[in-house]
Amino acid sequence: MVGSGVCPHLGAPLAAGRVDCGVLRCRWHGLALDASGGPGWRPLPAHDDGVLAWARLDDVGGEAPTPAPVLPHRPDPHASIAAVATLTGVCEPEDVVANRLDPWHGAWFHPYSFTRLTVESAPDATMDLPAVQDRFVVAVTFRVAPRLGVPVRAEFSCPGPRTVVMRITEGEGAGSVVETHATPLSPGADGRARTAVVEATIATSDRAGFAAARRFAPVLRPLMRRTAARLWRDDLAYAERCYALRVPMTRNS
Ligand code: FES
Ligand SMILES: [Fe+2]
Repeated sequence: MVGSGVCPHLGAPLAAGRVDCGVLRCRWHGLALDASGGPGWRPLPAHDDGVLAWARLDDVGGEAPTPAPVLPHRPDPHASIAAVATLTGVCEPEDVVANRLDPWHGAWFHPYSFTRLTVESAPDATMDLPAVQDRFVVAVTFRVAPRLGVPVRAEFSCPGPRTVVMRITEGEGAGSVVETHATPLSPGADGRARTAVVEATIATSDRAGFAAARRFAPVLRPLMRRTAARLWRDDLAYAERCYALRVPMTRNS
């Protein structure tokens, strides 16, 4: 279960409270809250998938809830390093998905990270394809230093309407995945849409040195997060532009 971090009595931060025998007790005046909730405080079903924490907002968005999030196959947690980056943009989830499903922009828009990019196959948008064919296949070289690159083959697919998964299928780090989850938020004070990009990078490698590198996961995670955030700062400009074209600003927004 998850719930608002604001105490329904006077607004104290509930994260500072204590959990005792399944009861969360507010530190300010001792209000006790349990899974059944109370006036002004309604907990929601939650799911911890080991990398991401999910809250199920049953009556928001009008979609039929699933018992658990739809997740792609991930590398073995004991043989991988996971890092999560979160950024927020002035756009809707479909703008984030549109950016992620435009593999052609990679080498042009992020030349510091990608080079020699070829889109080897793209799904036919006019057909309802089986999942195994409904994906982009891209050959690309990741730049790891100015004159050093790592060629890989990767595929992009969508296990859900707001999730895009990039999986390395050949080359260094084969089996690694990057999950991009576009999560709608409440509109901002300007009335414009807001979307959180929650991106989980789950890296693996069959190189002998990778098992040793996993010991340095606490050091590697911030670097992985910084790399994802740098790309997304550019990509959010793209997504925000898509949104601005589709939903022009009115005088009041
Ligand atoms: S603010 Fe939480 S009990 Fe008073
Ligand atoms: Fe991009």
